[in-house]
Amino acid sequence: MTKAPAGLNICGARVFYRGQLREGCISISEGRIIFIGKEAHAPKAEEEVRAEGLLALPGPIDAHVHLRDEGLAYKEDFWTGTCAAVTGGITSVLDMPNTVPPVDSAERLAERARKAEERAVANVGFYCLFPAELSELPRVAEIGAVAIKAYLHKPLTRLDISDEATLVKAVELANRVGLPVAFHAEDPRVIAEAAETVGGEGDPVSVFLTSHPPEAELKAVERLASLLAGRRVHICHVSVPGALKAAKRAGFTIEATPHHLFLTSDLYGRLGTLALVDPPLRPGDVVARLRQALYAGQIDLVASDHAPHALEEKLGPGPVPPGFPGLETLLPLLLNEVAERRLSLAELVRLVCEGPARVFGLDRGRLEVGWPADLVLVDLKAELVVRPGDFRSKAKYSPFEGMRLRGRPVMTVVNGVVAFREGEVVAEPGCGTMLRPKRSPGGLRP
Ligand code: DOR
Ligand code: ZN
Ligand code: ZN
Repeated sequence: MTKAPAGLNICGARVFYRGQLREGCISISEGRIIFIGKEAHAPKAEEEVRAEGLLALPGPIDAHVHLRDEGLAYKEDFWTGTCAAVTGGITSVLDMPNTVPPVDSAERLAERARKAEERAVANVGFYCLFPAELSELPRVAEIGAVAIKAYLHKPLTRLDISDEATLVKAVELANRVGLPVAFHAEDPRVIAEAAETVGGEGDPVSVFLTSHPPEAELKAVERLASLLAGRRVHICHVSVPGALKAAKRAGFTIEATPHHLFLTSDLYGRLGTLALVDPPLRPGDVVARLRQALYAGQIDLVASDHAPHALEEKLGPGPVPPGFPGLETLLPLLLNEVAERRLSLAELVRLVCEGPARVFGLDRGRLEVGWPADLVLVDLKAELVVRPGDFRSKAKYSPFEGMRLRGRPVMTVVNGVVAFREGEVVAEPGCGTMLRPKRSPGGLRP
């Protein structure tokens, strides 16, 4: 039997395949994996990559990314943001809708996806805000949003989600058309009351910390749990263990970020407003308990909340926007946990590949014949020092600056195209595609 020629063979790596590492060869043709197995049985290929000493993992999906562009292109754009992704070993990102103008309608969603597809070197899925008219939800699902995003403390949508009945109805309707609803969960009343106690007095960091206390997150998640238990709800960037417990009890899916897992509020003394992020970094004991939850398998996915701003904005004076870049540190930080034996490789793959794919219903996150060829080659032994000056993101600063990590991405393949190799982005703009979820009938969990 003659074998169909493959475009690209990646051979010699240990491949994470069906839960195990096996030495072998991955063959790719026309954007898909056509063979995984012993090198002797691999089809011939036009190009071969030798990958001895490396691990081949499914392409990681960063489920929480602000690519910005459009009216905020000075902070980041589709090209720089997705270059940052593939440099960090990430093959897919899910883009947040708090853009200028915001993504709050089916029409805006389609327009943004069109612009991104021309420029992106990673795959991009899109969140959409609740449209002003809920009757538009089926159209939002049809165009291919991965989820609805709701900001409880600053809604950005014309739909009044501060009204509980409206919120419950909106989530039900979204779920019915197969859309999960992801929440930035901080209670606006707790924030307002806490802010009043400081009255804006003091340095920007302490004002921010006082007005975004752990109780704001806890209260918001408890309220969502009482209103929406059992619905398809995702809680973004959980930072306090109590909120995690309440979310789990309600059957919600849970996301955590590397900064809430690996950094503590002590860092504000050294980095000040540069490290401001919402929710804020928490004290050491809280962070230690969140990390225990990670190691105990209670978190569904880890995402970066890549939230780039211009350095001048971060340093003030003036209101300092929360957030910092994270696409180029997400995978290295987790690889370091594996290298240090605190996390298994299977857990890493669950947290950044299988978890996001399951939560958002994406046909990605696995190395399997017939599946899109998204993968990353990593060197678990190589050291990586976080040097934000070298970031591909426009935001060249990081609260992780100077950290020495073990484990680094070496080559990133997106839809069968080598996008990053030997420290360089080597793909043309446009090799990424729009990610559209597989909708499960009746909006049930996938
Ligand atoms: O730190 C944050 N930055 N938290 C958010 O909720 C928004 C984000 C941003 O868009 O900058
Ligand atoms: Zn948020
Ligand atoms: Zn965010």
